[in-house]
Amino acid sequence: MKIVLASDHGGFQLKEAVKTALADKGHEVVDLGTDSEAPVDYPVFGKLAGDYVASGRAERGIVFCGTGIGIGIAANKVHGVRCAMVTGDEYAKLASGHNHANMIALGGRFVSAGDALRFIDIWLGTPWEGGRHDRRAEELDEM
Ligand code: RB5
Repeated sequence: MKIVLASDHGGFQLKEAVKTALADKGHEVVDLGTDSEAPVDYPVFGKLAGDYVASGRAERGIVFCGTGIGIGIAANKVHGVRCAMVTGDEYAKLASGHNHANMIALGGRFVSAGDALRFIDIWLGTPWEGGRHDRRAEELDEM
């Protein structure tokens, strides 16, 4: 699967760990930065990744900042993005099954690399349930 990644400085280390692991699993990974722990502004990177997914250049996107909050808000400003901040296994499952999330946001200062990779596996491996959730996802996409 083609997956785009982006982070600010607070999410940089976690992005790097996830990038390596996803590539090892055979995913096509696109890294839009940042490329160091030097301070940058998370809205810039959230928008970059959001635009990438919304335009269809990647099937999924994962964004990282210190908490996962700011960069997820930024990604969700892009029309067509449904970005879920994920902090646990059940969140990862429901993000896909109920919210049809095409992106997730993770907090580099709160989520370990091991937990992040498990959340990503669950999110990627959980099918969209559709059904009663269809109309709600459509309503999100109309905003
Ligand atoms: C940067 O210090 C920090 O504010 C950012 O990474 C993120 O946590 C914002 O939501």
